[in-house]
Amino acid sequence: MRLLEVKNLQVQFSTPDGEVTAVNNLNFSLETGETLGIVGESGSGKSQTVFAIMGLLARNGRAHGEALFEGQQILNLPEKALNRIRAEKIAMIFQNPMTSLNPYMKVGKQLMEVLMLHKGTGKAEAFNESARMLDAVKIPEARQRMGMYPHELSGGMRQRVMIAMTLLCRPKLLIADEPTTALDVTVQAQIMALLNELKRDFNTTIIMITHDLSVVAGICNKVLVMYAGQAMEYGTTDDIFYRPSHPYSIGLLASIPRLDTDNSQALVTIPGNPPNLMDLPSGCPFQDRCQHVMDKCRQQNPPLEILSNKRQRACFWSPDEPGPNKPSPDEPSPDEPSPDEPNPDEPSNV
Ligand SMILES: Nc1ncnc2c1ncn2[C@@H]1O[C@H](COP(=O)(O)OP(=O)(O)O)[C@@H](O)[C@H]1O
Ligand SMILES: [Mg+2]
Repeated sequence: MRLLEVKNLQVQFSTPDGEVTAVNNLNFSLETGETLGIVGESGSGKSQTVFAIMGLLARNGRAHGEALFEGQQILNLPEKALNRIRAEKIAMIFQNPMTSLNPYMKVGKQLMEVLMLHKGTGKAEAFNESARMLDAVKIPEARQRMGMYPHELSGGMRQRVMIAMTLLCRPKLLIADEPTTALDVTVQAQIMALLNELKRDFNTTIIMITHDLSVVAGICNKVLVMYAGQAMEYGTTDDIFYRPSHPYSIGLLASIPRLDTDNSQALVTIPGNPPNLMDLPSGCPFQDRCQHVMDKCRQQNPPLEILSNKRQRACFWSPDEPGPNKPSPDEPSPDEPSPDEPNPDEPSNV
């Protein structure tokens, strides 16, 4: 079933210097059980996309377009209706769990309150269910940890508590905005493994936001690559990883450290910086950093075209044309495909 459909989403901010379009004409959709990765450098509009859907934009921001959740338009819903959806159906975890946890309240109490306030669960049952959920997110000695304050836990543990808290309401959609960015690499991997397990056990649909394309490989079945508020490429994880067709996706992939190649080759990063949203060039926003830029790209913003396998791409250049970045078909795959990746024989839901 189609759980979320976002159509022509636009997010604008009024600032003293003028209007800023942080998200421009974005389209994507999610079926129940799917995991979408939204990827792009810092400032590309990833967070504002989900903030708009959740009704969390800053006061100077406005959202236009449609966000249909189970068929219901939730964009710009009144606060009361949104609160209900946020409590019961859509949950969000942030980069820094300390911003969502109350530092002065024991974690057990915070978890229990979620159940007691939103679900009317009795105290004893709320305690047991909270402890069970801490077990489920692999917090050792869960019952003892219930009596601790957030600062007594490590960063990784706090993120697990946050995940437990969001899962207590059994949300249909979990939005994770850079959930592992503040954590060290080992803990990052553990949290991603945990999310993967939870996805399997609870059939939770997930939107995973990250600036790090390698994070999406193991968990997402489709990927939206954003730049300067726009979709550059959108397709199955398989397509984006093994057959990237937008110079920006190709550049992002080239900047992932790989275990299967020797490390003497310095990591390639995309030279330059994203453009100022207040002063976007006419034409493609990526033009100044693109190795394949043509005159046309400076005149016209390439429309999002639908290619085979329902993949979408906004670019005039084609990866079949010769060029320095052309991916070689003999190149080894960046990673073992994860079992969660879609079967190429199955119809894709992109
Ligand atoms: N309250 C605001 N007022 C004006 N501009 C904003 C505001 N919030 C965000 N923006 C603009 O939106 C852009 C995209 O932000 P964001 O979605 O947070 O990026 P990211 O991809 O890093 O999550 C920012 O670079 C900024 O230009
Ligand atoms: Mg962000």
